[in-house]
Amino acid sequence: DKANYRHFMAKEIHEQPEVVGHTLARYIDMASERVMLPVKLPFDFKDIQRISITACGTANYAGYVAKYWFERLARIPVEIDIASEFRYREAPLRKGDLAIFISQSGETADTLAALRYAKAEGVHTLSVVNVPTSTIARESETVLQTLAGPEIGVASTKAFTCQLMVLASLAVAAGKARGELSDEDETKLVHGLVEIPRLMAAALTLEPQIEKLARDISKSKDVLYLGRGTSYPMALEGALKLKEISYIHAEGYAAGELKHGPIALIDENMPVVVIAPFDRVFEKTVSNMQEVAARGGNIILMTDAKGAAEATVDSLVTIVLPDMASAFTPMVYAIPVQLLAYHTAVVMGTDVDQPRNLAKSVTVE
Ligand code: F6R
Repeated sequence: DKANYRHFMAKEIHEQPEVVGHTLARYIDMASERVMLPVKLPFDFKDIQRISITACGTANYAGYVAKYWFERLARIPVEIDIASEFRYREAPLRKGDLAIFISQSGETADTLAALRYAKAEGVHTLSVVNVPTSTIARESETVLQTLAGPEIGVASTKAFTCQLMVLASLAVAAGKARGELSDEDETKLVHGLVEIPRLMAAALTLEPQIEKLARDISKSKDVLYLGRGTSYPMALEGALKLKEISYIHAEGYAAGELKHGPIALIDENMPVVVIAPFDRVFEKTVSNMQEVAARGGNIILMTDAKGAAEATVDSLVTIVLPDMASAFTPMVYAIPVQLLAYHTAVVMGTDVDQPRNLAKSVTVE
């Protein structure tokens, strides 16, 4: 049931600190401050030359974030693909490498077909699924479960952040196994992960500000989302979430791609949501924001206190998230991204939990 919430989606957004916390507890040993996977992996990360990650929609964006983590923390090249492309382009895979599949339902037809293809090619298959009895779970060599609980709203929210928590833990485990991370590095990263549920709860307190903002967004016909690094897939996710439940056209772009085309769209009528925690690429994103501002664009900046102080741009609205030192910002930035889509849809009066033309689980291709 919806408890006291108007929609399942609202309930599921608010459940995230709790369910991400449960997922964390399954993958981290709090006493020793080490990553401890609940299953023994049938391969050694030292032997993996390349990982291929395959999924659809929001699950694919979780995979896209994880690509940055695996490459950064474990120095493993990662290929990320949407399942409908992966399955038909017959991607060459090296026997003994690793293919990861991400799915809330575990029943998505294209993701399942991609898994079967990978198995036939002789790679190790690992799936990150929320439904442990699902077909994808049953057919994968290794299953890492997300503990999101049942997700009823068609738009994925809590499953996404739980997927990120599992993938972050796995990337740390991979970095450790490959000798790219020391014990000390691991402890630091684990501290970063342990903080996430609390930071997500802090992000939820921004809801009144975002609700107000949603009234402005609901008047727009188009919205652009920009981000760099792990905030790039978050921009894609923000645009997907907004379009699927509010029916407002939105696009996500890597901030650095702005001047290769989308900048032509900028005017005072198209809000630009910039996702930019104060991280190693922050300055670069600020220069893209200046380009937007110079063309009369209205910016909604999602950042932290440091970013808000450093951003030398007149932005329309700044949403100030908690400062965080770690590389795991996407789990926290997912909250304002989801809330903005949710409240915009509520203002628009759409069927938030059952948006038109969409199904919760896409079991046909
Ligand atoms: C978007 C959304 C979809 C799903 C996609 C994959 O909010 O929910 O894009 O993420 O259909 O579904 P699963 O994860 O069940 O494979």
